[in-house]
Amino acid sequence: MGLKNFTRDDSIFANEAVLRDSYRPERLVERDKELSEYQEALRPVINAAPPKNIFLYGQTGVGKTLATRLVLKQLLNDQCRYDDLSIEVINLNCKSASSSYQVSVDLVNQFRNTCSKIPSTGYAGSQVYQMLWNHVDDLDATHLLVVLDEIDSIGNDDDILYELPRANDNEKISDTLVGVIGISNDFTFRDNLSARVKDSLCDEEIHFPPYNANQLRNILERRAEHAFRDGVLSSDSIPLCSAFSAQESGSARQALKLLYKAGDLARTRNDPEIAEDHVRNARDTIEKGKIQEELKSLPTQSQLTLFSLLQLEAEGRAPCKRSEIYQRYQTVADQTNTDIVSDRTIHNRIGQLRLKGFIQHDERNDGIHGGSYYLYRLDIREEIIRSALKKSESRVSDLLYISS
Ligand SMILES: Nc1ncnc2c1ncn2[C@@H]1O[C@H](COP(=O)(O)OP(=O)(O)OP(=O)(O)O)[C@@H](O)[C@H]1O
Ligand SMILES: [Mg+2]
Repeated sequence: MGLKNFTRDDSIFANEAVLRDSYRPERLVERDKELSEYQEALRPVINAAPPKNIFLYGQTGVGKTLATRLVLKQLLNDQCRYDDLSIEVINLNCKSASSSYQVSVDLVNQFRNTCSKIPSTGYAGSQVYQMLWNHVDDLDATHLLVVLDEIDSIGNDDDILYELPRANDNEKISDTLVGVIGISNDFTFRDNLSARVKDSLCDEEIHFPPYNANQLRNILERRAEHAFRDGVLSSDSIPLCSAFSAQESGSARQALKLLYKAGDLARTRNDPEIAEDHVRNARDTIEKGKIQEELKSLPTQSQLTLFSLLQLEAEGRAPCKRSEIYQRYQTVADQTNTDIVSDRTIHNRIGQLRLKGFIQHDERNDGIHGGSYYLYRLDIREEIIRSALKKSESRVSDLLYISS
């Protein structure tokens, strides 16, 4: 049949961009409490007092970045009413920075144009800080708010989170009052901050909890008004997307992705309506995609461990003990000409697979004499693992073809 013409007819979407992650809505729905806490924490700034430092945390997709954008936009607008204010904001996503040094270089470069940017190595840390303080002084602003989004990337190297919030107290910067807004979706990051950083960064902590199904439903309904043509959404599609996403993550990002994918499926199949079936299929497709990515990045020994449990599960032998998985693993490793590693190593692999959500375990207790032990089983549907493993282009995928 060859190539078809690209034609511009879309019976499902009115504007699909509204469902993309890059879309910037003008309102944050279902977050009144958090928004008011956020605005309260920033009140000193509008009162021309030194800012509080704010630490925002919550799982992925719960509106932290969007809330920050909207609240700061409002603050920048409202400052016009006061002659004695000149507030500046710097926004930095720290995802690709793995140290405080890199963050400070990136901050310096935010003040510089393309020709005068500094490289990410070569200067002493203290030099970079000095450049930063000079730039801030040159700003001639009354306040500077520095947003460090996804700040957990810097791990334990958290010096910048001490230096920045303390810049005024330590007399590094004189005229501009500096406030830091740190954002993280890694709960352990906050707990592991050094005591001096915790003291200075966390004047105010704002927690963004996961959304429940009702909240997700409201978020999706607002988006759907602009995204879809009239009458294409069946009455159960949004509630189902919301229920699935609330159950799995409470993330608005995930819910939007699911609704978008469901619409995409209806469009591809030329169906007039987005029905329950599209949502279920979309969920499977997304889940498979995610698992495939994860599986690809697993070391061979972990893939073999998972495959061993998959076989046991298919034979009705799971949940099973670790020793049974190890026994099966030895056979499977042998079939694929892979070195057989020790029981202890496979034990570690099982632990990692559990953390990644592939495997779950239940503790059993056989009384005083039997002692306690774990029984393992898959935590993801068999067919999804099977199809993901098939596409993983590893030795395990060869095994699957042999066994099917
Ligand atoms: N309350 C909300 N109302 C409308 N849209 C929302 C809401 N919360 C989240 N979203 C949308 O969900 C997506 C994720 O939100 P956002 O980027 O703010 O999450 P996040 O908490 O910063 O996540 P991460 O930790 O992964 O960075 C965005 O597309 C955003 O527009
Ligand atoms: Mg974010």
